[in-house]
Amino acid sequence: MKNHLIAPSLLAADFLHLADAVQLINESEADWFHLDVMDGRFVPNISFGMPIISAVNKMCNKPLDVHLMMVEPEKYITQFRDAGADVITVHYETCPHLHRTIQQIKDTGAKAGVALNPHTSVDLLDDVLESIDVVLIMSVNPGYGGQKFIYQTIPKIKKLQEKVITRNLSTIIEVDGGVGLQNAEAVLQAGARVLVAGSSVFKADNPVDVISRLKAIGKDTLMA
Ligand code: DX5
Ligand code: ZN
Repeated sequence: MKNHLIAPSLLAADFLHLADAVQLINESEADWFHLDVMDGRFVPNISFGMPIISAVNKMCNKPLDVHLMMVEPEKYITQFRDAGADVITVHYETCPHLHRTIQQIKDTGAKAGVALNPHTSVDLLDDVLESIDVVLIMSVNPGYGGQKFIYQTIPKIKKLQEKVITRNLSTIIEVDGGVGLQNAEAVLQAGARVLVAGSSVFKADNPVDVISRLKAIGKDTLMA
């Protein structure tokens, strides 16, 4: 297993104390901060947009991983980049001109991510995979934090990882939804490089410790 990255998700934090959440991320072993934008159209929920991302960006010293669960994301790529996004992920299901949208993201200087809903096959990315920096495999149906991990995701991660290896690509695989200490090792073994973790981190008594333990999976120290 290569070194993996942990991306706690702001969605599960206390919105009344955003600065505390950012400070926690800054002081933890988290690698990225995952920010979920929901539009009430692609997904049945509305979360937050650019003003919150800009505010977080002012204080956060980790890369911002912005997950756009919205229709017509191409209209707002520049604004999300200006708000501070380092990785911008759009959903395959919302992009009829996916190749163009990926180029649009890269032109801003951000890394380009493409997310797949649980029912969307990884084969659909075959013709565009070399252009994608990050493939985000949803392991729940997008729209809410705190849902149960869908185990059919594991073979899907493996299938994508085989494609990446066979084609000698540098695309990294991120997994989002229901990930925590109980399943992180299986997700990493299947080929994930980035673990998004919302509830398992922010609803824990000691979020910094959970981040450290997620980060330590696969390292010898965990065996001690
Ligand atoms: C779900 C979001 C996730 C969410 C994960 O639609 O994309 O990023 O914050 O939360 P947990 O880890 O609680 O499933
Ligand atoms: Zn997400």
